[in-house]
Amino acid sequence: MTATDVHPTSDIRVSAAVTSFLSPVWTHLTQVQPVRGEGIYLYDSEGSRYIDFTSGIGVTNTGHCHPRVVKAVQEQAGDLLFGQMNIVISPAALALAETLNRVTPPAIDSFFFSNSGAEAVEAAVKLARHATSRRNIIVFQGSFHGRTAQAMAMTTSKTIYRFNYQPLPSGIFVTPYPASFFYGWDDEETTAFCLKQLDLLFKGQTPTEETAAFVIEPVLGEGGYIPAPPAFLQELRALADKYGILLVLDEVQSGFGRTGKFFSFEYAGIEPDILIMAKGFASGLPVSAIGASQALMKKWKAGSHGGTYGGGSAVALAAAKATIDTIVEENLAANAAEMGSYLMAKLRHLQEAHPVIGDVRGQGLMVGVEFVDEKGSANPEAASAIQKSCLAQNLLLLTCGSYSNVIRWIPPLIVNKDQIDEAVDIFATALKKVI
Ligand SMILES: Cc1ncc(COP(=O)(O)O)c(C=O)c1O
Repeated sequence: MTATDVHPTSDIRVSAAVTSFLSPVWTHLTQVQPVRGEGIYLYDSEGSRYIDFTSGIGVTNTGHCHPRVVKAVQEQAGDLLFGQMNIVISPAALALAETLNRVTPPAIDSFFFSNSGAEAVEAAVKLARHATSRRNIIVFQGSFHGRTAQAMAMTTSKTIYRFNYQPLPSGIFVTPYPASFFYGWDDEETTAFCLKQLDLLFKGQTPTEETAAFVIEPVLGEGGYIPAPPAFLQELRALADKYGILLVLDEVQSGFGRTGKFFSFEYAGIEPDILIMAKGFASGLPVSAIGASQALMKKWKAGSHGGTYGGGSAVALAAAKATIDTIVEENLAANAAEMGSYLMAKLRHLQEAHPVIGDVRGQGLMVGVEFVDEKGSANPEAASAIQKSCLAQNLLLLTCGSYSNVIRWIPPLIVNKDQIDEAVDIFATALKKVI
């Protein structure tokens, strides 16, 4: 290979020589190589601007490189990079736990830190099994909980995530998620059906006394951006209380202001026994956590779980604290609620003129647009064509759903009306061009 074969990595024209060093297991939505991020925008080395309405899959809730988060990272980096949790207790870990305690319900007052969403899911399941001395976990059809073996076993949004990896850990039982549009019913009917199916699961597969936990996303994420009806979540809470089952809420994607509340469960007026947090938690640095009551955490035998980095990576913890402070002090959840309503109204307006849009739904800035064909069946081709047309106009949007027929809108929570207008105009142009 000669020197001229190798392009600098900041070059937008990616050469095979450069990409061949990256494992092909990664899929890439674009070939964009950003050298800078600011707010809702990414910029490449040639100065092209991209509107990032993916937020890096729901991570950059405060926008790219929010100055408060950057400052906290820089300051912490100069003081202490790492304080391993089994060896010492860093002030950054204490400060983050105190901050989390302020934004979670009073009963959630003990926190365990890790690095990714999947790791936090693993921790939640380990805690639930330890605390209840029961083995079985109930999850909901279409969920995404991560890519580690246990989390994979709990993930049913798409078969690609488990392809060639099965058999997976046992003790996982899957029951329908209340996806009203999928079933073609109203929320009441869907809720009744799903509760009936859950009861059948108790009768036929996992008895209540062997069931440790329900693990549910209050808004189904990868599975299609579907908020669970509040009545369903309330009934799960009641069943959990009745049978001594723990209610574990996976708010990895829906947390930290994303849905217009700090956590989505607030819409249903319920509280979890174990709360799983990641993604929007630290504006891009790898931090995740589970929260539970001190009484529950005390049932987790000391030393039976842990990790080298969780709670030790002081820079990541400082980023998380600054992220939460920013979300609270800049009222970003309220902005997500307001901008989410604005965005959904605009999308519903487009729906009126375009029957290919079967449904517009969501909570706050977690909005899904579902594409259907003339028969009302999933239309992934339309979703993909619209997505590609938006990408060609420098608007980054993701799809989701088991049928890949939902475009998800997940902009940073700092987004404003002008920016939403620009993005929806691009989307409308794509609709006109493609459909
Ligand atoms: C709801 C939910 N749980 C868990 C995960 C896994 O998180 P991670 O990719 O950080 O392991 C994700 C990731 O998309 C998620 O959306």
